[in-house]
Amino acid sequence: MMSSARCVLALLALLLAPPAWAQGDAARGRAIVTTRQKGLCLLCHYGPFPEERFQGNLAPSLAGAGRRWDAAALRARITDSQGLNPDSIMPSYGVTDRLRDVAPAFRGKPILTEAEIEDVVAFLLTLTADE
Ligand code: HEC
Repeated sequence: MMSSARCVLALLALLLAPPAWAQGDAARGRAIVTTRQKGLCLLCHYGPFPEERFQGNLAPSLAGAGRRWDAAALRARITDSQGLNPDSIMPSYGVTDRLRDVAPAFRGKPILTEAEIEDVVAFLLTLTADE
């Protein structure tokens, strides 16, 4: 298990260092969330995406995520879901350590870049309605 000190440091680093690209693009974020090539979020989640026929039911709806969470909390969750909850089945999209069975082409690379994570955060912040 991750030591809590390391976890706190990782979260502090995420919260205290908003870099230049900190303004994400919500339209790009929506594409990452809904397409199967990148985020695969809808493998587990469902939400207000009427054009998507197949959505998951292993995780809470993304509807209202922008009301329940602020940008820092969303960023922390997407970057390192297992840092928040070691038992989470949600992938830690921004970390490269602690991953197992990674195909050689993907070793050392996060699933989403920091800029892509900011795009996803910007999109989730627009999901303020319940449905
Ligand atoms: C393999 C399944 C899976 C995938 C893929 C996944 N998630 Fe999750 N997600 C979960 C689960 C399960 C939870 C509930 C908390 C937990 O168990 O960690 C969760 C929690 C969340 C939450 C908090 C929900 C709330 O309001 O309580 C957000 C926001 C979220 N995920 C966003 C995303 C985004 C964005 C993506 C894609 C980039 C994604 N998730 C991909 C399984 C997944």
